Amino acid sequence: MADVETNPPALAVHDLRVGVGPSGRQSVVVDGVSFTVPAGGRLALVGESGSGKSMTAMAIAGLLPGRFRILSGDIKLAGETIDPMARSMTRRRGRDVSVVFQDPMSALNPVMTIGAQLIEAIRVDTAVSRKAARKRAIELLEEVQIARAAERLNAYPHEFSGGMRQRVMIAIALANRPRVLIADEPTTALDVTTQVQILRLIDDLCRLEGAALLLITHDIGLVEGLCDDICVLYGGRVMERGPVASVISQPGHPYSNGLISAIPPLDEDVPWLEPIAGEPAAAAHLGKGPACPFAPRCPMVKQVCHTDRPDLQPIGPYVDAACHFASAQPGHRVNTS
Ligand SMILES: Nc1ncnc2c1ncn2[C@@H]1O[C@H](COP(=O)(O)OP(=O)(O)OP(=O)(O)O)[C@@H](O)[C@H]1O
Ligand SMILES: [Mg+2]
Repeated sequence: MADVETNPPALAVHDLRVGVGPSGRQSVVVDGVSFTVPAGGRLALVGESGSGKSMTAMAIAGLLPGRFRILSGDIKLAGETIDPMARSMTRRRGRDVSVVFQDPMSALNPVMTIGAQLIEAIRVDTAVSRKAARKRAIELLEEVQIARAAERLNAYPHEFSGGMRQRVMIAIALANRPRVLIADEPTTALDVTTQVQILRLIDDLCRLEGAALLLITHDIGLVEGLCDDICVLYGGRVMERGPVASVISQPGHPYSNGLISAIPPLDEDVPWLEPIAGEPAAAAHLGKGPACPFAPRCPMVKQVCHTDRPDLQPIGPYVDAACHFASAQPGHRVNTS
């Protein structure tokens, strides 16, 4: 359970803006994103492809690709403002914030054994002897439920299945007990059964290690039961954020509503799901105009949506939405606070 009363948030992101391209001609791909993850809490960052999820995560972890820059914003880890682009971030990575990526094969080194990669991760930050690091590596492999862990240390990544490789990546990410684990589409490359196992594992281990979780996914259906809060991105901007239970049961923003309507129900035989009309807009093309980025696809669009950018504002207890007409949504809850 998140300790919101006594601890500062594990992660607080305020008005983050990320741009790509040469200065003066930059495209904004993350445009004023703000959210917090309480200590030990779990937040899902959700949105279609190109909505700016990964660039938000990469900015926090100081792993932005070469042409991307943080333009402005404030990022706090456990109450302390960090500069993700500073050299000191190398030390923080793994200890304060760790990332699990979508594709474990490209994240692991194919010519190093699993054991060598785990031991390297364990020793990067602490003065641990090789022997103690090897012991911890075995413990970690056991924690991620890899059988015959001691023997498996000598294996190479190609000898492991996709699910096992992702387990190793989780072990590496958690090796130094980070305050925040960022999991960027950690199960997209895996089959459905393995997806569930890996998400359960991430959930269990974050609890065990006391890490806060920032789970990035385009699949809003995965979030229920796993995360406390949700932040819905579109075009690099926050469309809606709030407790998962509230947003999923009563979405206040037409975009969240569209994403939720496209979740296949588990217990009904539905022949056809309602997709959101139109193509997801690339965030990079949206930073310039004053309009709502979702206006071209929105079923509730009015003239004002093409001319005025809606601010993120409270639409109910703990729920904020950026829509001129959020209160007109069928699921909108009256603010009783
Ligand atoms: N190398 C690049 N050069 C220019 N723009 C880029 C580049 N890579 C990504 N972008 C832009 O940055 C925006 C945000 O991309 P990002 O990778 O964060 O999206 P995402 O939400 O993680 O999508 P996905 O679900 O596909 O992973 C996209 O709109 C994309 O157009
Ligand atoms: Mg991504």
